[in-house]
Amino acid sequence: MVEEFEEAFAAFCDTSHAVAVNSGTDALRFAVMACGVEPGDVVLTVPNTFIATTEAISQAGAVPEFIDIDENTYNISAEGLQDFLEQKCMRNADGQLISKRLQRPVTAVVPVHLYGQMADMDSILRLAGHYGLTVIEDSCQAHGAEYFSGKLNRWMKAGTMGRAAAFSFYPGKNLGACGEGGAVTTNDAAIAAKIKMLREHGQAKKYYHDMEGYNGRLDSVQCGLLHVKLGHLAKWNAQRRDRAAEYDRLLAGNEAVTCPYEPSWSRAVYHLYVVRAVDRDGLARHLKTAGIGTGIHYPVPLHQQKAYLSMNYREADFPVAARLAGEILSLPMYPQLSAEQQARVTDEILGFVHDELISQ
Ligand SMILES: Cc1ncc(COP(=O)(O)O)c(C=O)c1O
Repeated sequence: MVEEFEEAFAAFCDTSHAVAVNSGTDALRFAVMACGVEPGDVVLTVPNTFIATTEAISQAGAVPEFIDIDENTYNISAEGLQDFLEQKCMRNADGQLISKRLQRPVTAVVPVHLYGQMADMDSILRLAGHYGLTVIEDSCQAHGAEYFSGKLNRWMKAGTMGRAAAFSFYPGKNLGACGEGGAVTTNDAAIAAKIKMLREHGQAKKYYHDMEGYNGRLDSVQCGLLHVKLGHLAKWNAQRRDRAAEYDRLLAGNEAVTCPYEPSWSRAVYHLYVVRAVDRDGLARHLKTAGIGTGIHYPVPLHQQKAYLSMNYREADFPVAARLAGEILSLPMYPQLSAEQQARVTDEILGFVHDELISQ
């Protein structure tokens, strides 16, 4: 059942391999390890992601360093990445790219397709190619999202463009298990084989251990369930896109709430529908009183988290991520959300915005 699901998920993602593991965090940790990132290397990522992204990097023995995000897509800024590589790195005597701040080799970048929106992969891959960085996609929120590669002149699925990619099957994800789960996708047979070893105590053959690994398997019951749900994923993603378009329509023309921006090169799968509001906390309180649940993904950017105090970052180091954290609000979003429910959510939002304007 595990192999059957892996085959089906690889086919869905358009990759030659998918390896099921027991969480998205393990998927990313194993991908970082299998892609040849060495202990002590710097891996670049964004500060506005779930901490699992940086945990996976650290637990693979590497050190995360942050790049600020794009103001519109909320994903890694290609300009920010370029500035970092040009200005905050140098070459050592061996020609290795070194982070000036950490004095360690920079060897990989992990773009996160946050909220199911695609990062600008052509730009990232071009920079990565130029600087010799390995790209590992954090696709944990982006099952089935697509990116139009101008370079290749075709649509590409999330999880097919990096050397490897991590997916999460946490129950709330677009494809969710009945418990924890994850997968690594890759077109590289050697990486897939290494991940199979990492997930099972470093063995390629039962009780013959070529290295130390982990207990990172995904059990067959979850795979069976995921396989059934996978058959519905394209339809559910399309329903999420319809719901997102309806929110866009209902909220159009009001300046107090900004809807998500989907560039022409992206077909997002709206794991979350995240708006920006000037009085975010007031709006969230108002919706709660009206019986409407919302979320904040995420309230504190990683560079300001207690866990990373020792990195000595200042809030202003990543101004876009820091500002957005105070403005973002995730509205109810799931495939079965009805038009009536959506109208109620947007009526409450527009009512709140209107009352605030009057009281000013
Ligand atoms: C962006 C991102 N990366 C990594 C993960 C980790 O996935 P999991 O919770 O399955 O370990 C998640 C899931 O919550 C996520 O949203």
